[in-house]
Amino acid sequence: MNRFYVTTPIYYVNARPHLGHAYSTIIADVLNRFHRMCGRETFFLTGTDEHGDKVVLAAREEGMSPLAYADRISGLFKALWPELDIECDCFIRTTDPAHIKVVKEVLQKIYDSGDIYFSEYEGAYCFGCERFYTERELVDGKCPDHKTVPEVIREANYFFRMSKYQDWLIDYIQADPDFIRPERYKNEVLAFLREPLEDLCISRPKARLQWGITLPFDDGYVTYVWFDALLNYISATGYPDGELFKKFWPSVHHVIAKDILKPHGIYWPIILKAAGIPIYRHLNVHGYWNVDEAKMSKSLGNVVEPLELKKIYGADAFRYFLMREMVFGLDSNFSEAALVQRYNSDLANDLGNLFSRSLTMVHKYFDGVVPEGSAAPESQLDRDIKSEALKTIREYQDALEGFVFHKALMALWQFINQINKYIDVTAPWELFKKESQRNQLQVVLYNIVESLRIIAGLLYPVMPTTARVMGEHLGIASDKYPQTLEDLTIWGKLRPGTQLLKTTTLFPRVDLGGPATRAPREAGAVEGPGGSKPEISKETFETVDLRVAKVLHAESVPRSQKLLRLKVDAGEERTIVAGIAESYQPEDLIGKQVVIVANLKPAKLMGILSTGMMLTAQDKGVCRLVSLDGPAEPGTRLT
Ligand code: MSP
Repeated sequence: MNRFYVTTPIYYVNARPHLGHAYSTIIADVLNRFHRMCGRETFFLTGTDEHGDKVVLAAREEGMSPLAYADRISGLFKALWPELDIECDCFIRTTDPAHIKVVKEVLQKIYDSGDIYFSEYEGAYCFGCERFYTERELVDGKCPDHKTVPEVIREANYFFRMSKYQDWLIDYIQADPDFIRPERYKNEVLAFLREPLEDLCISRPKARLQWGITLPFDDGYVTYVWFDALLNYISATGYPDGELFKKFWPSVHHVIAKDILKPHGIYWPIILKAAGIPIYRHLNVHGYWNVDEAKMSKSLGNVVEPLELKKIYGADAFRYFLMREMVFGLDSNFSEAALVQRYNSDLANDLGNLFSRSLTMVHKYFDGVVPEGSAAPESQLDRDIKSEALKTIREYQDALEGFVFHKALMALWQFINQINKYIDVTAPWELFKKESQRNQLQVVLYNIVESLRIIAGLLYPVMPTTARVMGEHLGIASDKYPQTLEDLTIWGKLRPGTQLLKTTTLFPRVDLGGPATRAPREAGAVEGPGGSKPEISKETFETVDLRVAKVLHAESVPRSQKLLRLKVDAGEERTIVAGIAESYQPEDLIGKQVVIVANLKPAKLMGILSTGMMLTAQDKGVCRLVSLDGPAEPGTRLT
């Protein structure tokens, strides 16, 4: 198949983007880049899911209209992706008029064919999930996700006749082993289907919910969230007549996490079947990231913000860690310590050292010019390098085609380490000592830099910036970037005589505080009376970004007597670690208006990343927070 279409879930706009959203979207970006390297025409879709009660509630809390609120959060997702080097072809919003039109058309089509009917229903409804639960699905009478007792609601609604398609779906899934991957999730869907499938309630009366798409056949109702959301995958490509739809739909790959397996593995194929649309090609399901062994949640305060990590470690290291650490399909644990460990060992040590020592040698022995690769007869070691390169490319390709990202990177790192060993064994510094071995030295160094070209090429899907920097240093013209997979399989593409750039450190080693971070001065530690500082200009003072912030949440930091961990709204949410625990109780701070330095370099205190500093005054051992004498919007700048 010479085309590749990849989608991510469209994310709800009731919460800011976090690690989990970033993971699915990075996967899609990695695949998109990889398939382009394989010479395929690709299309990459992501976006936001904007209708439903949850958005109305979140908007109300902020005193905003649902649309203004959706604009804001959708904007955060859209702005985050380029920061993580994610380049999508289309960012869809379910509030887009073109999407709404498709939803209405498909609903009408299914309604006309008789698979949507009107009926009274009484059932257990979970407001958190925005859906009815059957008795069987509840755990101890509670919603398994929200652990709350659902409310019993009686209501007339529209229903989608899913039960009619149950046998068809079982056969369809069994006939195509690759339809739902990995296999455990296929089995999970088949297990759901062993029980009778209930019809799906697809509407909400407008008396209860207005923030949705009006049913084309009854304007007293809006569609239920899943019918609206799932259709994004076809509306974004211009279903039914759009060129993109015709071109890409047959090769679509959906990427989701296990939380939304049922809607994607059951509702979605049945909706497509009922609407007479070809069934999607593959559903690829990954596990969940937990953080420090706990489920990520706002209330636990352990939500990982991708941008904060990017600021410290760079987008490439973040992407590498996620792809290398998680086994696709299984849950994984995120900890910054694990990221730092991989950063130092895999990136700074194995890859970074290989790159810098290789370039340094070419500069030292050949003035930075790529030597002749056939200057001397090949040894067995040289032949091994070439065959290992091909083997690595094959393994890498197979692993990425099969969504086994960690294996692709393991194969690549095995090659990196083989080249490191090759350098140790061939010892170019010894060869350099004897004029008679100059030709052999040429061959060895050629093999090393040619291997680096292949390594850079294979790194590209996961670490596009690193790959580009390596490519530039190896004299690969920017219009030859990214290299195609075919370019990589042809040994000898790096021309002898090419001038290489001076070496660079790709990944400076870091400690847990991040590279070269200083702990910010703890709040309360300002100098006492009489301690004066040098005079500065107004311009220098203006480089300090002072902002009004409101404290949303405060808690003590375990094992610290001085530190409190605060969540503040400074126009955007931030975590601040402040040394004020001896003067303030956490509960005294909630809702307080404070002043923060917003552009202080993030730093870690007791393992928590602090992205700002609160202004305080210290008087006789008591710490006083700086505040304003009247309310001001969070995020307002101080001048
Ligand atoms: N709006 C629906 C999806 C509709 S798709 C037609 C939705 N949105 S969501 O914002 O809740 O996003 C869920 C998805 O975010 C998961 O399927 C996964 O892709 C990603 N993740 C959210 N939390 C995650 C983890 N903790 N770990 C890994 N990915 C998770 O459901």
